[in-house]
Amino acid sequence: MNSVRLHDLSFEQFITEEEVDQAVQRLADEMRVKYEGKRPLFIGVLNGAFYFATELLKRLPIECEITFVKVASYHGTSSTGHVLDLIGLNERIEGRHVVVLEDIVDTGNTVRHILDALAHLRPASISIAALLFKPDAYKHDMPIEHVAIRIPNVFVVGSGLDHDGLGRNLTGIYRITGPTS
Ligand code: IMP
Repeated sequence: MNSVRLHDLSFEQFITEEEVDQAVQRLADEMRVKYEGKRPLFIGVLNGAFYFATELLKRLPIECEITFVKVASYHGTSSTGHVLDLIGLNERIEGRHVVVLEDIVDTGNTVRHILDALAHLRPASISIAALLFKPDAYKHDMPIEHVAIRIPNVFVVGSGLDHDGLGRNLTGIYRITGPTS
């Protein structure tokens, strides 16, 4: 399937499933060396990271744990402004090697908030692993240590990423071509 319509938008494939698999395998090989013997705790950010988490962890034969969180966004008081909360995190973080798994890092705002929330829990280390990274859209300084695929600043779906709820189950990555005619 080379093109697809989701709601009001059209998309065409630009990264195949095989290319995604190869990129995730390269990342898993790199992370195996870094995390072997450290029993890392992977924290997948729902909904999008379900696909990446599965594909990465099945290629990472080391002792590890995986859990998932949701990020809830709400407006705090006028002094706190916009706040993000992590829902569903029951694991002990203190002293652990934590790896946050994201489907995509775009501006980096989401991952910045997640790292701030986790840093208070005193992990031994925290790093970020993302299936996709848009360097041209990124607005922060913290390094995204583990990236499977860098893409230009275009809207994409597939491999866990959605457009208004649709497209997460597409294999490979599709980029927007325009509104449906
Ligand atoms: P950030 O906070 O700007 O880095 O954006 C992170 C979140 O925005 C991701 O976890 C996605 O849910 C969503 N997002 C950013 N870019 C895309 C895209 O190209 N396709 C689908 N979702 C995206």
